[in-house]
Amino acid sequence: MISAIRSVLRAGFGLIERPFDRLFGPALNPLAQLGALGFFFFWIVAVSGIYLFIFFDTGIERAYQSVENLTQYHWFHAGVMRSFHRYASDLMVVMLVTHLLREFAYDHYRGVRWYSWFTGLPIIWLLYVSGITGYWLVWDKLAQYVALASSELLDWLPVFGEPIARNFIATGTLTSRFFSLMVFMHVAVPLFLLFIMWVHILRISRPKVNPPRMLAALSLTALLAVSIWKPAISQGHADLAKVPADVGLDWLYLPLYPLTTIWGNGAVWAFLGAFSLMIAAMPWLPPLRRAKAVEVHLDHCNGCARCAEDCPYEAIRMVGRTDGLPFPTQAQVNPSLCVSCGICVGSCPSSTPFRRSEDLRTGIDLPEFPLKELRARVVETASGVSGAGRLLVLACEHGAAAGRLEGTVVLPCVAMAPPSLIDFILSRNLSDGVVVAGCAESACYNRLGVKWTEERFAAERDPYLRARVPRERIATIWASALEVRRAEADIAAFAARVAQLPPLHMQSPLPKSIVAARKDRARADAGNEP
Ligand code: HEM
Ligand code: SF4
Ligand code: SF4
Repeated sequence: MISAIRSVLRAGFGLIERPFDRLFGPALNPLAQLGALGFFFFWIVAVSGIYLFIFFDTGIERAYQSVENLTQYHWFHAGVMRSFHRYASDLMVVMLVTHLLREFAYDHYRGVRWYSWFTGLPIIWLLYVSGITGYWLVWDKLAQYVALASSELLDWLPVFGEPIARNFIATGTLTSRFFSLMVFMHVAVPLFLLFIMWVHILRISRPKVNPPRMLAALSLTALLAVSIWKPAISQGHADLAKVPADVGLDWLYLPLYPLTTIWGNGAVWAFLGAFSLMIAAMPWLPPLRRAKAVEVHLDHCNGCARCAEDCPYEAIRMVGRTDGLPFPTQAQVNPSLCVSCGICVGSCPSSTPFRRSEDLRTGIDLPEFPLKELRARVVETASGVSGAGRLLVLACEHGAAAGRLEGTVVLPCVAMAPPSLIDFILSRNLSDGVVVAGCAESACYNRLGVKWTEERFAAERDPYLRARVPRERIATIWASALEVRRAEADIAAFAARVAQLPPLHMQSPLPKSIVAARKDRARADAGNEP
Protein backbone atom coordinates (compact mmCIF):
# COMPACT_ATOMS: atom_id res chain seq x y z
CA MET A 1 0.00 0.00 0.00
CA ILE A 2 2.70 2.51 1.07
CA SER A 3 4.89 1.56 -1.87
CA ALA A 4 1.92 2.02 -4.25
CA ILE A 5 1.33 5.56 -2.90
CA ARG A 6 5.06 6.22 -3.21
CA SER A 7 5.10 5.09 -6.85
CA VAL A 8 2.12 7.29 -7.74
CA LEU A 9 3.72 10.30 -6.06
CA ARG A 10 7.05 9.56 -7.68
CA ALA A 11 5.40 9.46 -11.10
CA GLY A 12 3.71 12.77 -10.26
CA PHE A 13 6.98 14.43 -9.29
CA GLY A 14 8.64 12.98 -12.39
CA LEU A 15 5.93 14.50 -14.59
CA ILE A 16 6.49 17.98 -13.16
CA GLU A 17 10.23 17.86 -12.54
CA ARG A 18 11.48 16.91 -15.97
CA PRO A 19 9.73 19.85 -17.72
CA PHE A 20 11.11 22.05 -14.88
CA ASP A 21 14.57 20.68 -15.67
CA ARG A 22 14.16 21.84 -19.25
CA LEU A 23 12.67 25.20 -18.22
CA PHE A 24 15.14 26.19 -15.49
CA GLY A 25 18.03 23.79 -16.16
CA PRO A 26 18.74 20.98 -13.64
CA ALA A 27 20.85 23.25 -11.40
CA LEU A 28 18.07 25.84 -11.00
CA ASN A 29 15.13 23.43 -10.80
CA PRO A 30 13.27 24.66 -7.67
CA LEU A 31 12.00 21.15 -6.94
CA ALA A 32 15.60 20.03 -6.46
CA GLN A 33 16.22 22.97 -4.10
CA LEU A 34 13.28 22.68 -1.72
CA GLY A 35 15.34 22.41 1.50
CA ALA A 36 17.58 25.27 0.39
CA LEU A 37 14.53 27.40 -0.46
CA GLY A 38 13.09 26.55 2.97
CA PHE A 39 16.21 28.01 4.56
CA PHE A 40 16.13 30.99 2.21
CA PHE A 41 12.54 31.88 3.09
CA PHE A 42 13.36 31.42 6.77
CA TRP A 43 16.04 34.12 6.49
CA ILE A 44 13.62 36.43 4.70
CA VAL A 45 11.08 35.89 7.48
CA ALA A 46 13.76 36.53 10.12
CA VAL A 47 15.12 39.73 8.54
CA SER A 48 11.67 41.17 7.75
CA GLY A 49 10.53 40.19 11.27
CA ILE A 50 13.39 42.11 12.88
CA TYR A 51 12.55 45.14 10.72
CA LEU A 52 8.87 45.00 11.68
CA PHE A 53 9.76 44.69 15.33
CA ILE A 54 11.27 48.18 15.20
CA PHE A 55 7.81 49.63 14.49
CA PHE A 56 5.71 47.13 16.46
CA ASP A 57 4.15 48.15 19.78
CA THR A 58 4.10 45.09 22.00
CA GLY A 59 1.32 46.42 24.25
CA ILE A 60 -2.16 44.99 23.66
CA GLU A 61 -3.73 48.46 23.29
CA ARG A 62 -1.42 49.77 20.59
CA ALA A 63 -0.39 46.59 18.76
CA TYR A 64 -3.15 46.74 16.14
CA GLN A 65 -2.61 50.42 15.37
CA SER A 66 1.17 50.04 15.12
CA VAL A 67 0.73 47.33 12.48
CA GLU A 68 -1.94 49.37 10.66
CA ASN A 69 0.43 52.33 10.48
CA LEU A 70 2.93 50.21 8.60
CA THR A 71 0.46 49.42 5.84
CA GLN A 72 -1.06 52.90 5.65
CA TYR A 73 1.82 55.32 6.18
CA HIS A 74 4.99 53.33 5.63
CA TRP A 75 3.80 50.94 2.94
CA PHE A 76 6.86 51.49 0.69
CA HIS A 77 9.27 49.98 3.24
CA ALA A 78 7.65 48.59 6.39
CA GLY A 79 4.42 47.66 4.54
CA VAL A 80 6.41 45.76 1.94
CA MET A 81 8.40 44.10 4.74
CA ARG A 82 5.13 43.04 6.37
CA SER A 83 4.05 41.40 3.11
CA PHE A 84 7.50 39.78 2.76
CA HIS A 85 7.12 38.44 6.29
CA ARG A 86 3.72 36.95 5.63
CA TYR A 87 4.29 35.57 2.13
CA ALA A 88 7.74 34.13 2.89
CA SER A 89 6.17 32.35 5.91
CA ASP A 90 3.50 30.95 3.61
CA LEU A 91 6.16 29.85 1.16
CA MET A 92 7.96 28.03 3.97
CA VAL A 93 4.85 25.88 4.41
CA VAL A 94 4.66 25.27 0.66
CA MET A 95 8.35 24.25 0.65
CA LEU A 96 7.94 22.07 3.73
CA VAL A 97 4.96 20.13 2.35
CA THR A 98 6.47 19.68 -1.11
CA HIS A 99 9.87 18.73 0.34
CA LEU A 100 8.27 16.17 2.68
CA LEU A 101 6.26 14.62 -0.16
CA ARG A 102 9.28 14.56 -2.46
CA GLU A 103 11.58 12.88 0.08
CA PHE A 104 8.81 10.32 0.61
CA ALA A 105 8.25 9.84 -3.14
CA TYR A 106 11.96 9.24 -3.76
CA ASP A 107 12.22 6.87 -0.78
CA HIS A 108 14.72 9.13 0.96
CA TYR A 109 13.32 8.54 4.42
CA ARG A 110 14.04 4.94 5.35
CA GLY A 111 17.19 3.13 6.40
CA VAL A 112 20.01 5.44 7.42
CA ARG A 113 17.99 8.43 6.24
CA TRP A 114 15.44 7.97 9.06
CA TYR A 115 17.26 10.69 10.99
CA SER A 116 16.52 13.56 8.59
CA TRP A 117 12.93 12.40 8.25
CA PHE A 118 12.40 12.03 11.98
CA THR A 119 13.85 15.46 12.76
CA GLY A 120 11.48 16.91 10.14
CA LEU A 121 8.56 16.20 12.51
CA PRO A 122 9.48 18.84 15.15
CA ILE A 123 10.11 21.23 12.26
CA ILE A 124 6.47 20.87 11.20
CA TRP A 125 5.22 21.59 14.73
CA LEU A 126 7.56 24.49 15.33
CA LEU A 127 6.82 26.12 11.99
CA TYR A 128 3.09 25.98 12.69
CA VAL A 129 3.46 27.33 16.23
CA SER A 130 5.64 30.16 14.86
CA GLY A 131 3.07 31.07 12.19
CA ILE A 132 0.03 30.82 14.46
CA THR A 133 1.56 32.99 17.20
CA GLY A 134 2.41 35.51 14.45
CA TYR A 135 -1.26 35.88 13.56
CA TRP A 136 -2.08 36.74 17.19
CA LEU A 137 0.23 39.73 17.24
CA VAL A 138 -1.67 41.74 14.64
CA TRP A 139 -4.59 41.77 17.09
CA ASP A 140 -7.23 42.06 14.39
CA LYS A 141 -10.38 39.94 13.98
CA LEU A 142 -8.41 37.02 12.56
CA ALA A 143 -6.03 37.23 15.55
CA GLN A 144 -9.02 37.15 17.88
CA TYR A 145 -10.45 34.10 16.11
CA VAL A 146 -7.07 32.32 16.18
CA ALA A 147 -6.50 33.22 19.84
CA LEU A 148 -9.90 31.96 20.90
CA ALA A 149 -9.82 28.77 18.82
CA SER A 150 -6.21 27.98 19.85
CA SER A 151 -6.86 28.48 23.53
CA GLU A 152 -10.01 26.35 23.41
CA LEU A 153 -7.96 23.69 21.69
CA LEU A 154 -5.27 23.94 24.37
CA ASP A 155 -7.86 23.97 27.14
CA TRP A 156 -9.07 20.58 25.93
CA LEU A 157 -5.76 19.16 27.14
CA PRO A 158 -5.73 18.66 30.90
CA VAL A 159 -2.46 20.60 31.34
CA PHE A 160 -3.51 24.14 32.26
CA GLY A 161 -4.96 24.75 35.72
CA GLU A 162 -7.12 27.68 34.57
CA PRO A 163 -8.82 27.72 31.15
CA ILE A 164 -6.84 30.17 28.99
CA ALA A 165 -9.79 30.78 26.64
CA ARG A 166 -11.25 32.95 29.44
CA ASN A 167 -8.76 35.63 28.37
CA PHE A 168 -10.52 36.10 25.05
CA ILE A 169 -14.21 36.03 25.79
CA ALA A 170 -14.79 39.43 27.37
CA THR A 171 -13.32 42.91 27.16
CA GLY A 172 -10.77 43.77 29.81
CA THR A 173 -9.83 40.17 30.59
CA LEU A 174 -6.86 39.97 28.24
CA THR A 175 -3.81 41.18 30.09
CA SER A 176 -0.80 42.79 28.49
CA ARG A 177 1.32 40.15 30.21
CA PHE A 178 -0.41 37.39 28.28
CA PHE A 179 0.06 39.35 25.05
CA SER A 180 3.75 39.84 25.82
CA LEU A 181 4.03 36.08 26.31
CA MET A 182 2.75 35.63 22.75
CA VAL A 183 5.29 38.16 21.45
CA PHE A 184 8.02 36.28 23.29
CA MET A 185 6.86 32.95 21.82
CA HIS A 186 6.76 34.39 18.32
CA VAL A 187 10.45 35.25 18.69
CA ALA A 188 11.65 32.23 20.70
CA VAL A 189 9.91 29.46 18.75
CA PRO A 190 11.41 30.45 15.36
CA LEU A 191 14.86 30.56 17.01
CA PHE A 192 14.32 27.03 18.24
CA LEU A 193 13.03 26.12 14.78
CA LEU A 194 16.32 27.32 13.30
CA PHE A 195 18.21 25.16 15.77
CA ILE A 196 16.17 22.08 14.78
CA MET A 197 16.67 22.90 11.08
CA TRP A 198 20.40 22.75 11.78
CA VAL A 199 19.98 19.42 13.63
CA HIS A 200 17.92 18.19 10.65
CA ILE A 201 20.85 18.41 8.24
CA LEU A 202 23.61 17.27 10.60
CA ARG A 203 23.95 13.87 8.95
CA ILE A 204 24.07 15.22 5.43
CA SER A 205 27.36 16.07 3.84
CA ARG A 206 27.42 19.42 2.02
CA PRO A 207 23.69 20.07 2.52
CA LYS A 208 22.19 22.57 0.11
CA VAL A 209 21.17 25.37 2.47
CA ASN A 210 21.47 28.23 -0.03
CA PRO A 211 19.64 28.19 -3.35
CA PRO A 212 21.62 29.21 -6.45
CA ARG A 213 21.81 33.01 -6.73
CA MET A 214 19.60 33.17 -9.79
CA LEU A 215 16.85 31.18 -8.05
CA ALA A 216 17.16 33.37 -4.95
CA ALA A 217 16.90 36.51 -7.10
CA LEU A 218 13.85 35.14 -8.95
CA SER A 219 12.16 34.25 -5.65
CA LEU A 220 12.84 37.70 -4.20
CA THR A 221 11.50 39.41 -7.31
CA ALA A 222 8.35 37.30 -7.20
CA LEU A 223 7.89 38.10 -3.50
CA LEU A 224 8.31 41.82 -4.17
CA ALA A 225 5.82 41.74 -7.04
CA VAL A 226 3.18 39.95 -4.92
CA SER A 227 3.85 42.26 -1.96
CA ILE A 228 3.15 45.33 -4.10
CA TRP A 229 0.23 43.79 -5.98
CA LYS A 230 -1.54 42.29 -2.96
CA PRO A 231 -0.08 43.69 0.27
CA ALA A 232 -0.70 41.86 3.54
CA ILE A 233 -3.44 43.67 5.45
CA SER A 234 -5.29 43.36 8.77
CA GLN A 235 -8.95 42.45 9.18
CA GLY A 236 -10.27 45.16 11.51
CA HIS A 237 -9.52 45.68 15.21
CA ALA A 238 -10.22 42.76 17.53
CA ASP A 239 -13.27 43.28 19.71
CA LEU A 240 -13.58 40.86 22.58
CA ALA A 241 -17.18 41.94 23.13
CA LYS A 242 -18.14 40.24 19.87
CA VAL A 243 -17.44 36.75 18.56
CA PRO A 244 -15.46 37.21 15.34
CA ALA A 245 -17.45 36.13 12.27
CA ASP A 246 -16.46 35.86 8.61
CA VAL A 247 -12.71 36.10 8.99
CA GLY A 248 -10.49 35.35 6.01
CA LEU A 249 -8.26 32.38 6.87
CA ASP A 250 -4.70 31.65 5.81
CA TRP A 251 -5.33 28.13 4.57
CA LEU A 252 -1.65 27.24 4.71
CA TYR A 253 -1.30 27.85 8.46
CA LEU A 254 -4.84 27.53 9.69
CA PRO A 255 -6.48 24.66 7.80
CA LEU A 256 -7.36 22.80 11.00
CA TYR A 257 -9.17 25.70 12.67
CA PRO A 258 -12.52 25.23 10.94
CA LEU A 259 -12.28 21.55 11.89
CA THR A 260 -12.27 22.44 15.59
CA THR A 261 -15.89 23.58 15.05
CA ILE A 262 -16.89 20.72 12.73
CA TRP A 263 -15.12 17.78 14.44
CA GLY A 264 -14.56 19.17 17.93
CA ASN A 265 -11.26 19.79 19.72
CA GLY A 266 -10.77 16.19 20.86
CA ALA A 267 -10.97 14.90 17.28
CA VAL A 268 -8.49 17.53 16.07
CA TRP A 269 -6.02 16.46 18.78
CA ALA A 270 -6.58 12.81 17.81
CA PHE A 271 -5.86 13.72 14.18
CA LEU A 272 -2.68 15.64 15.11
CA GLY A 273 -1.50 12.77 17.33
CA ALA A 274 -2.16 10.15 14.64
CA PHE A 275 -0.47 12.28 11.98
CA SER A 276 2.62 12.81 14.14
CA LEU A 277 2.80 9.13 15.05
CA MET A 278 2.51 8.16 11.40
CA ILE A 279 5.30 10.55 10.34
CA ALA A 280 7.51 9.34 13.22
CA ALA A 281 6.96 5.65 12.38
CA MET A 282 7.18 5.90 8.60
CA PRO A 283 10.91 5.12 8.25
CA TRP A 284 10.14 1.67 9.66
CA LEU A 285 6.95 0.99 7.69
CA PRO A 286 8.45 -1.29 6.44
CA PRO A 287 12.18 -0.82 7.17
CA LEU A 288 14.54 -0.64 4.21
CA ARG A 289 16.64 -3.73 3.59
CA ARG A 290 20.17 -2.53 4.21
CA ALA A 291 23.22 -3.91 2.47
CA LYS A 292 26.32 -4.27 4.66
CA ALA A 293 28.29 -1.06 5.22
CA VAL A 294 31.62 -0.51 3.47
CA GLU A 295 34.79 -1.79 5.14
CA VAL A 296 38.21 -0.16 5.19
CA HIS A 297 41.22 -2.32 4.22
CA LEU A 298 44.04 -0.56 5.99
CA ASP A 299 46.79 -2.27 4.01
CA HIS A 300 45.43 -0.44 0.92
CA CYS A 301 44.52 2.88 2.58
CA ASN A 302 47.01 5.75 2.41
CA GLY A 303 44.82 8.16 4.36
CA CYS A 304 44.19 10.49 1.40
CA ALA A 305 40.68 11.38 2.73
CA ARG A 306 39.05 11.35 -0.70
CA CYS A 307 36.45 8.85 0.47
CA ALA A 308 35.56 11.03 3.48
CA GLU A 309 35.18 14.06 1.21
CA ASP A 310 32.98 12.26 -1.30
CA CYS A 311 30.65 10.39 1.06
CA PRO A 312 27.25 12.14 0.87
CA TYR A 313 26.18 10.94 4.32
CA GLU A 314 29.06 11.88 6.63
CA ALA A 315 29.70 8.16 7.21
CA ILE A 316 33.51 8.37 7.01
CA ARG A 317 35.93 10.30 9.15
CA MET A 318 39.67 10.39 9.18
CA VAL A 319 41.36 9.23 12.37
CA GLY A 320 44.94 8.69 13.52
CA ARG A 321 46.78 5.73 12.06
CA THR A 322 46.49 2.51 14.04
CA ASP A 323 48.51 0.02 11.98
CA GLY A 324 51.96 1.57 11.99
CA LEU A 325 52.03 2.36 8.24
CA PRO A 326 53.82 5.65 7.50
CA PHE A 327 50.69 7.75 6.92
CA PRO A 328 49.25 10.15 9.51
CA THR A 329 45.59 9.16 9.08
CA GLN A 330 43.27 6.37 8.01
CA ALA A 331 39.60 6.18 7.03
CA GLN A 332 37.08 5.04 9.61
CA VAL A 333 33.49 4.13 8.69
CA ASN A 334 30.47 4.59 10.94
CA PRO A 335 28.32 1.64 9.76
CA SER A 336 25.14 3.16 11.16
CA LEU A 337 25.45 6.09 8.72
CA CYS A 338 26.50 4.17 5.61
CA VAL A 339 23.87 3.54 2.91
CA SER A 340 26.24 1.29 0.89
CA CYS A 341 26.12 3.51 -2.18
CA GLY A 342 29.73 2.65 -3.04
CA ILE A 343 30.65 6.26 -3.92
CA CYS A 344 33.71 6.01 -1.66
CA VAL A 345 34.86 2.90 -3.54
CA GLY A 346 34.85 4.99 -6.72
CA SER A 347 36.89 7.72 -5.08
CA CYS A 348 39.65 5.58 -3.55
CA PRO A 349 43.00 5.78 -5.38
CA SER A 350 43.50 2.06 -4.69
CA SER A 351 40.40 1.18 -6.74
CA THR A 352 42.28 0.39 -9.92
CA PRO A 353 40.85 -2.46 -11.95
CA PHE A 354 44.14 -2.61 -13.91
CA ARG A 355 45.73 -4.48 -11.05
CA ARG A 356 46.60 -7.95 -12.18
CA SER A 357 45.90 -9.70 -8.92
CA GLU A 358 42.88 -11.97 -8.96
CA ASP A 359 41.98 -10.81 -5.48
CA LEU A 360 41.56 -7.14 -6.42
CA ARG A 361 41.72 -5.26 -3.12
CA THR A 362 41.07 -1.60 -2.51
CA GLY A 363 41.22 0.80 0.44
CA ILE A 364 37.48 0.77 1.04
CA ASP A 365 35.04 -1.77 -0.35
CA LEU A 366 31.45 -3.01 -0.23
CA PRO A 367 31.44 -6.50 1.35
CA GLU A 368 28.38 -7.57 -0.68
CA PHE A 369 29.54 -6.10 -4.02
CA PRO A 370 33.31 -5.62 -3.92
CA LEU A 371 35.29 -3.94 -6.68
CA LYS A 372 36.65 -7.34 -7.67
CA GLU A 373 33.09 -8.51 -8.34
CA LEU A 374 32.34 -5.33 -10.31
CA ARG A 375 35.37 -5.93 -12.52
CA ALA A 376 34.37 -9.58 -13.03
CA ARG A 377 30.82 -8.57 -14.00
CA VAL A 378 32.12 -5.95 -16.42
CA VAL A 379 34.42 -8.47 -18.13
CA GLU A 380 31.70 -11.13 -18.27
CA THR A 381 29.00 -8.76 -19.53
CA ALA A 382 31.33 -7.33 -22.18
CA SER A 383 32.05 -10.80 -23.51
CA GLY A 384 28.34 -11.18 -24.29
CA VAL A 385 28.11 -7.99 -26.40
CA SER A 386 28.89 -8.23 -30.12
CA GLY A 387 28.35 -6.43 -33.44
CA ALA A 388 29.28 -2.91 -34.56
CA GLY A 389 29.19 -0.28 -31.82
CA ARG A 390 29.50 -2.67 -28.86
CA LEU A 391 28.36 -0.81 -25.77
CA LEU A 392 28.78 -1.48 -22.10
CA VAL A 393 26.31 0.33 -19.87
CA LEU A 394 27.21 1.11 -16.25
CA ALA A 395 23.78 1.79 -14.82
CA CYS A 396 22.67 3.14 -11.46
CA GLU A 397 20.08 0.87 -9.89
CA HIS A 398 17.76 3.87 -9.40
CA GLY A 399 18.00 5.28 -12.93
CA ALA A 400 16.31 4.56 -16.26
CA ALA A 401 18.83 2.04 -17.56
CA ALA A 402 18.68 -0.29 -14.53
CA GLY A 403 16.14 -2.57 -16.24
CA ARG A 404 18.20 -3.01 -19.44
CA LEU A 405 19.53 -6.47 -19.92
CA GLU A 406 21.96 -6.38 -22.80
CA GLY A 407 25.44 -5.11 -21.97
CA THR A 408 24.40 -3.59 -18.65
CA VAL A 409 26.13 -3.78 -15.30
CA VAL A 410 23.99 -2.37 -12.51
CA LEU A 411 25.61 -0.49 -9.60
CA PRO A 412 24.20 1.04 -6.40
CA CYS A 413 25.34 4.42 -7.76
CA VAL A 414 27.27 5.30 -10.94
CA ALA A 415 29.88 7.08 -8.83
CA MET A 416 30.86 3.68 -7.44
CA ALA A 417 32.68 3.05 -10.72
CA PRO A 418 36.16 4.54 -10.47
CA PRO A 419 37.06 6.46 -13.67
CA SER A 420 39.89 3.95 -14.15
CA LEU A 421 37.21 1.30 -14.78
CA ILE A 422 36.19 3.12 -17.96
CA ASP A 423 39.83 3.43 -18.95
CA PHE A 424 40.16 -0.31 -18.28
CA ILE A 425 37.11 -1.19 -20.42
CA LEU A 426 38.23 0.84 -23.42
CA SER A 427 41.94 0.18 -23.24
CA ARG A 428 41.31 -3.56 -22.96
CA ASN A 429 38.94 -3.28 -25.92
CA LEU A 430 36.15 -4.85 -23.88
CA SER A 431 33.63 -2.64 -25.70
CA ASP A 432 33.65 0.13 -28.30
CA GLY A 433 31.92 2.61 -26.04
CA VAL A 434 30.81 3.04 -22.44
CA VAL A 435 27.54 4.54 -21.27
CA VAL A 436 27.34 5.80 -17.71
CA ALA A 437 23.63 6.00 -16.95
CA GLY A 438 22.49 7.50 -13.65
CA CYS A 439 19.42 9.15 -12.14
CA ALA A 440 18.02 12.43 -13.47
CA GLU A 441 20.59 15.17 -12.93
CA SER A 442 18.51 17.10 -10.41
CA ALA A 443 17.32 14.00 -8.54
CA CYS A 444 20.35 11.82 -7.83
CA TYR A 445 19.23 9.12 -5.38
CA ASN A 446 22.53 9.36 -3.56
CA ARG A 447 22.59 13.16 -3.68
CA LEU A 448 26.10 13.62 -5.07
CA GLY A 449 26.67 10.63 -7.37
CA VAL A 450 25.90 12.48 -10.62
CA LYS A 451 27.88 15.56 -9.55
CA TRP A 452 30.98 13.61 -8.55
CA THR A 453 30.87 11.55 -11.77
CA GLU A 454 30.68 14.67 -13.93
CA GLU A 455 33.49 16.36 -12.02
CA ARG A 456 35.72 13.29 -12.23
CA PHE A 457 35.14 13.04 -15.99
CA ALA A 458 35.89 16.75 -16.40
CA ALA A 459 39.16 16.28 -14.43
CA GLU A 460 37.87 18.67 -11.75
CA ARG A 461 37.86 16.07 -9.01
CA ASP A 462 40.09 13.21 -7.97
CA PRO A 463 40.23 10.51 -9.13
CA TYR A 464 39.81 11.95 -12.60
CA LEU A 465 39.37 10.25 -15.93
CA ARG A 466 42.76 10.16 -17.60
CA ALA A 467 43.25 12.31 -20.69
CA ARG A 468 44.13 9.29 -22.80
CA VAL A 469 40.58 7.90 -22.54
CA PRO A 470 38.79 8.74 -25.82
CA ARG A 471 35.89 11.00 -24.79
CA GLU A 472 33.91 10.31 -27.97
CA ARG A 473 33.48 6.74 -26.72
CA ILE A 474 31.86 7.77 -23.45
CA ALA A 475 28.29 8.96 -22.95
CA THR A 476 26.63 10.06 -19.74
CA ILE A 477 22.87 9.72 -19.61
CA TRP A 478 20.98 11.18 -16.67
CA ALA A 479 17.41 9.91 -16.72
CA SER A 480 14.95 8.90 -14.01
CA ALA A 481 13.36 5.46 -13.80
CA LEU A 482 10.32 6.98 -15.56
CA GLU A 483 12.32 8.00 -18.62
CA VAL A 484 13.23 4.55 -19.90
CA ARG A 485 12.26 5.39 -23.48
CA ARG A 486 14.42 8.49 -23.64
CA ALA A 487 17.37 6.63 -22.13
CA GLU A 488 16.93 3.77 -24.62
CA ALA A 489 16.79 6.22 -27.53
CA ASP A 490 19.92 8.04 -26.30
CA ILE A 491 21.79 4.75 -25.88
CA ALA A 492 20.76 3.62 -29.40
CA ALA A 493 21.89 6.96 -30.88
CA PHE A 494 25.22 6.71 -29.07
CA ALA A 495 25.68 3.10 -30.29
CA ALA A 496 25.14 4.32 -33.87
CA ARG A 497 27.76 7.06 -33.40
CA VAL A 498 30.25 4.64 -31.87
CA ALA A 499 29.72 2.22 -34.76
CA GLN A 500 31.04 4.94 -37.12
CA LEU A 501 34.31 5.30 -35.19
CA PRO A 502 37.43 3.43 -36.30
CA PRO A 503 38.15 0.21 -34.40
CA LEU A 504 39.61 0.93 -30.98
CA HIS A 505 43.07 -0.56 -31.54
CA MET A 506 43.60 1.71 -34.59
CA GLN A 507 43.08 4.89 -32.55
CA SER A 508 45.81 7.17 -31.38
CA PRO A 509 46.20 6.48 -27.66
CA LEU A 510 46.37 10.22 -27.00
CA PRO A 511 43.47 12.63 -27.56
CA LYS A 512 43.90 14.96 -30.55
CA SER A 513 43.99 18.08 -28.36
CA ILE A 514 47.01 16.76 -26.46
CA VAL A 515 48.77 15.65 -29.67
CA ALA A 516 48.14 19.13 -31.18
CA ALA A 517 49.38 20.90 -28.04
CA ARG A 518 52.55 18.81 -28.08
CA LYS A 519 53.15 19.64 -31.76
CA ASP A 520 52.67 23.37 -31.04
CA ARG A 521 55.12 23.22 -28.17
CA ALA A 522 57.68 21.37 -30.30
CA ARG A 523 57.28 23.98 -33.05
CA ALA A 524 57.68 26.84 -30.55
CA ASP A 525 60.76 25.19 -29.05
CA ALA A 526 62.26 24.80 -32.54
CA GLY A 527 61.55 28.50 -33.29
CA ASN A 528 63.36 29.57 -30.08
CA GLU A 529 66.53 27.76 -31.02
CA PRO A 530 69.40 30.07 -32.01
C1 HEM B 1 11.20 24.25 6.59
C2 HEM B 1 11.46 23.03 6.85
C3 HEM B 1 12.60 22.23 6.28
C4 HEM B 1 13.79 22.66 5.79
C5 HEM B 1 14.29 24.08 5.66
C6 HEM B 1 14.52 21.50 5.38
C7 HEM B 1 15.78 21.53 4.84
C8 HEM B 1 16.47 20.44 4.37
C9 HEM B 1 17.74 20.47 3.72
C10 HEM B 1 18.55 21.73 3.42
C11 HEM B 1 18.09 19.21 3.43
C12 HEM B 1 19.36 18.76 2.70
C13 HEM B 1 19.05 18.61 1.24
C14 HEM B 1 20.27 18.21 0.43
O1 HEM B 1 21.25 18.94 0.43
O2 HEM B 1 20.23 17.16 -0.21
C15 HEM B 1 17.03 18.35 3.89
C16 HEM B 1 17.01 16.98 3.77
C17 HEM B 1 15.97 16.17 4.18
N1 HEM B 1 14.77 16.57 4.70
FE1 HEM B 1 14.27 18.46 5.18
N2 HEM B 1 13.77 20.38 5.64
C18 HEM B 1 12.58 20.79 6.18
C19 HEM B 1 11.53 19.99 6.58
C20 HEM B 1 11.49 18.62 6.44
C21 HEM B 1 10.40 17.79 6.83
C22 HEM B 1 9.11 18.27 7.47
C23 HEM B 1 10.74 16.50 6.52
C24 HEM B 1 9.97 15.23 6.71
C25 HEM B 1 9.26 14.94 7.75
C26 HEM B 1 12.06 16.53 5.93
C27 HEM B 1 12.75 15.44 5.48
C28 HEM B 1 14.01 15.46 4.95
C29 HEM B 1 14.76 14.28 4.57
C30 HEM B 1 14.28 12.82 4.70
C31 HEM B 1 15.99 14.72 4.09
C32 HEM B 1 17.17 13.86 3.66
C33 HEM B 1 17.22 13.69 2.19
C34 HEM B 1 18.39 12.80 1.80
O3 HEM B 1 18.97 12.10 2.64
O4 HEM B 1 18.69 12.81 0.61
N3 HEM B 1 12.48 17.83 5.89
N4 HEM B 1 16.05 19.13 4.46
S1 SF4 C 1 29.17 3.47 0.73
FE1 SF4 C 1 28.29 5.52 0.43
S2 SF4 C 1 27.40 6.02 2.43
FE2 SF4 C 1 28.80 4.31 2.79
S3 SF4 C 1 30.69 5.27 3.40
FE3 SF4 C 1 30.81 4.94 1.19
S4 SF4 C 1 30.08 6.85 0.25
FE4 SF4 C 1 29.46 6.88 2.43
S1 SF4 D 1 40.04 7.01 -0.39
FE1 SF4 D 1 40.96 5.00 -0.01
S2 SF4 D 1 43.09 5.48 0.44
FE2 SF4 D 1 41.97 7.41 0.63
S3 SF4 D 1 41.43 7.51 2.82
FE3 SF4 D 1 39.70 6.53 1.79
S4 SF4 D 1 40.12 4.33 1.93
FE4 SF4 D 1 42.02 5.38 2.41
